[in-house]
Amino acid sequence: MGENMNSHRNGGTENRIDTARDDNVIRASGLRKVFKSVDGQLEVLKGLDLNVKRGEMVSIVGESGAGKSTLLHILGGLDTRTDGELEVCGVDYSEMNDDSLAGFRNNKIGFVFQFHHLLSDFNALENVMMPLLIAGKDQTESRRKASNLLERMGLETRLKHRPGKLSGGEQQRVAVARALATDPQVVLADEPSGNLDTKTASSLHQTLLDLNDKLGITFIIATHNRDFARNADKVYELTDGVAVAKDIGDL
Ligand SMILES: Nc1ncnc2c1ncn2[C@@H]1O[C@H](COP(=O)(O)OP(=O)(O)OP(=O)(O)O)[C@@H](O)[C@H]1O
Ligand SMILES: [Mg+2]
Repeated sequence: MGENMNSHRNGGTENRIDTARDDNVIRASGLRKVFKSVDGQLEVLKGLDLNVKRGEMVSIVGESGAGKSTLLHILGGLDTRTDGELEVCGVDYSEMNDDSLAGFRNNKIGFVFQFHHLLSDFNALENVMMPLLIAGKDQTESRRKASNLLERMGLETRLKHRPGKLSGGEQQRVAVARALATDPQVVLADEPSGNLDTKTASSLHQTLLDLNDKLGITFIIATHNRDFARNADKVYELTDGVAVAKDIGDL
């Protein structure tokens, strides 16, 4: 499977975002996260450094409980850091109010979770349109963009299906289309294939690799799947609260 995916890594140039600029989408240094509970304090991130450049596909591996989700939540502004420096697309969340943070998240960051988090009362098309409508785009433009994305995901015959009428793999494809709707600067994915069978997972992985390859979309993906991880440009292992760069050959 790894070789198969690799063969697609150097292919396309379609609409590719300019990656010549080596600007960092993510700059994190000395990132700490301490959870406080009745049992005391749990230091999950202990001074983590991470830089991600525009157009990179980065995978984050690590044991269950290592802090992968915690890190993605902090990078996406869904949770706050306890300490350390963090800039995402040049902004520091700690200087933003709730409204501007919500707007920034909707426009600049795409999220894909292990369980798709689609809205069950809305069909696939409406789910993908949602971030565009929130961003103030009109219905026509939102519909056009959302249908194009769903078509790219191979779901052109599923536009009117609600999530409950879609397979797990299809739901995740809708979730990826939704994450891409506002042309985000970075897509954060937390075990996007964790809930899928091997074949469906591998097909989703190929889609993500193609999106990175052909459109230059920056991805940071937490995964337990080493086959997928080794197809990334960079792999970091979260261990003892820090991110250690891995030699892809060692995976
Ligand atoms: N809100 C919270 N309050 C207290 N502890 C938390 C909270 N969220 C996470 N933790 C703890 O932080 C640690 C890291 O959790 P996290 O979900 O980031 O791990 P993970 O690497 O994503 O694991 P998995 O591979 O199982 O998804 C765990 O020990 C978890 O119990
Ligand atoms: Mg997790």
